[in-house]
Amino acid sequence: MIAGNWKMYRGPDPRALREALGDLPHVVAPPFTRLSDCVAAGLTTYAQNVHWESEGAFTGEVSSPMLQELGVTGAIVGHSERRQYFGETDLGVARRAHAALQAGLGVIACVGETGEQRESGDTETVLRVQVESIGDLCGTHENLVIAYEPVWAIGTGKTATPEMAQEAHAFIKSLLDVPVLYGGSAKPENAHELLSQPAVDGALVGGASLDIESFVAICRIHS
Ligand code: 13P
Repeated sequence: MIAGNWKMYRGPDPRALREALGDLPHVVAPPFTRLSDCVAAGLTTYAQNVHWESEGAFTGEVSSPMLQELGVTGAIVGHSERRQYFGETDLGVARRAHAALQAGLGVIACVGETGEQRESGDTETVLRVQVESIGDLCGTHENLVIAYEPVWAIGTGKTATPEMAQEAHAFIKSLLDVPVLYGGSAKPENAHELLSQPAVDGALVGGASLDIESFVAICRIHS
């Protein structure tokens, strides 16, 4: 799977993107306001987050049934920007993932260490805690995918080396046997090397997914 996380950017024209993608498998995760346009254009569309309840007094949140009503087929959960800036916890992330899977959505659950944690040798400990909390609630559900996104590689232009990615992905798979995507400054120039690692099953692309040509190029490399 190659998934594009548009974050809080308006993103490319969904119809132009759909046309450029042709038959290439893809997922796009636009901001909430663009979900309908992406679905209408025929793109495989995920939300960037989803709540664990189906409705209730949870201002600012959106539920799985609400997404499904729009034709959205999955959601990202636990992105490091949600954890870092919005206080999302391992348990909350696991609950979001579990509810979305129960509702029939696909889930991309994000994990990853900060630069400081890597430097202090804590990468595996951090990944273990994050992955096990998701695994404890969700198990190896067939619609669950993990995204390994080292926080120090997100939006920085610094990419994990293919060896680092392979090592982290293999470790994650030893804890929970599901597909693992790589995320963190993935672009057409480095996609081939990263995607050719045996434990790298795809990519979660941020910045480069906002450019039609770059995103299509990465999808093509993977196909
Ligand atoms: P960049 O590709 O911009 O580094 O972002 C990665 C990411 O956070 C995808 O979810």
